[in-house]
Amino acid sequence: MTESGIDKVAVLGTGVLGGQIAWHSAYMGKDVVAFNRREESLDKVRSAHHKLAQAYAEDLGASAEDITATQSRIGYVSDLKQAVGEADLVIESLPEVPKIKTLYYEKMAELLPEKTLIVTNSSTFMPRDFAESTGRPEKFCSLHFANKIWALNLVEIMAHQGTMEETLRAVASFGIEIGQVPIAIQKEQNGYVLNVWLQAMINAAVSLVENGVSTAEDVDRTYMIANRGCTMGPLGIVDMIGMRTQYELFDHWGKARNDHQMVKNAEFLKSRFIDRGLFGQENGEGFYTYPNPGYADPDFTSVPPLTAVDDIASRVML
Ligand SMILES: NC(=O)c1ccc[n+]([C@@H]2O[C@H](COP(=O)([O-])OP(=O)(O)OC[C@H]3O[C@@H](n4cnc5c(N)ncnc54)[C@H](O)[C@@H]3O)[C@@H](O)[C@H]2O)c1
Repeated sequence: MTESGIDKVAVLGTGVLGGQIAWHSAYMGKDVVAFNRREESLDKVRSAHHKLAQAYAEDLGASAEDITATQSRIGYVSDLKQAVGEADLVIESLPEVPKIKTLYYEKMAELLPEKTLIVTNSSTFMPRDFAESTGRPEKFCSLHFANKIWALNLVEIMAHQGTMEETLRAVASFGIEIGQVPIAIQKEQNGYVLNVWLQAMINAAVSLVENGVSTAEDVDRTYMIANRGCTMGPLGIVDMIGMRTQYELFDHWGKARNDHQMVKNAEFLKSRFIDRGLFGQENGEGFYTYPNPGYADPDFTSVPPLTAVDDIASRVML
């Protein structure tokens, strides 16, 4: 038995983050069930895991045995009862749409064993938004992962008023057991620590492009020169987050806060990318094209040759 008491994990939602959480938890020795309601989405996460295996080999030096052992610890299921029926912990990583999350909490309430803890990976909603719908508010809190979880290894832990201390201790221990640095959020705060500044920065960056002030490349270039050493700018980060999740964040919070520019930014992402089937890094194109995005070119932040002046001057005059 581990310190956390969490050995069996069910991950609901197998998209950008759910896929990473499932893989990483298995890599770190947990038994994982990855749930998606659609078989074709399970095929997608299987191939995403194939790519993650390569990233873990390259970035973490994972051996062939490590990869095989990881794969052997993951089950892929489309039946909710089968997914959560024996879980010590359910990690909800469904779309950032409260209606969908609530629906699953309510469905799960009848299927879970007494022992099971539940966490939400929601980037912007608070645990109090869902606590009652879980039917076990004392065993529920937020555990927010960062994209590229094997490299950006932090988890933000946020409770609501009814979360039991025992739940928080187990969840913090689980975070440490899977190699994450737990960040304690001391009061319920929309966006934790990470998204308070990350989303403000992304909103500013998309506004600059949406208003025609600058190109995506120049926005990111400016950021990367001002923050020497970082490997991408805010619009590269949007590609990594995924267009749909970023759209949902802008759309929800733009309307909730009556922020006209944020709503326009949501519409911009939808019409320029999502409606054209461009979801970001996930399927090869967003602000940049992959696997070789412009910002990864070593010359992206170099002083350009004088032959670039015509292009620069003509864009200033637009
Ligand atoms: N993308 C990020 O960088 C990031 C970072 C931290 C936290 N999060 C949070 O993780 C959660 C998931 O985000 P994501 O980016 O992985 O989203 P995503 O769109 O990539 O994945 C969502 C998953 O839910 C499934 N799904 C879609 N509609 C559904 C429905 N109606 N019922 C059941 N399942 C459905 C999809 O098949 C997919 O597997 C969100 O709460 C988000 O805020 C995302």
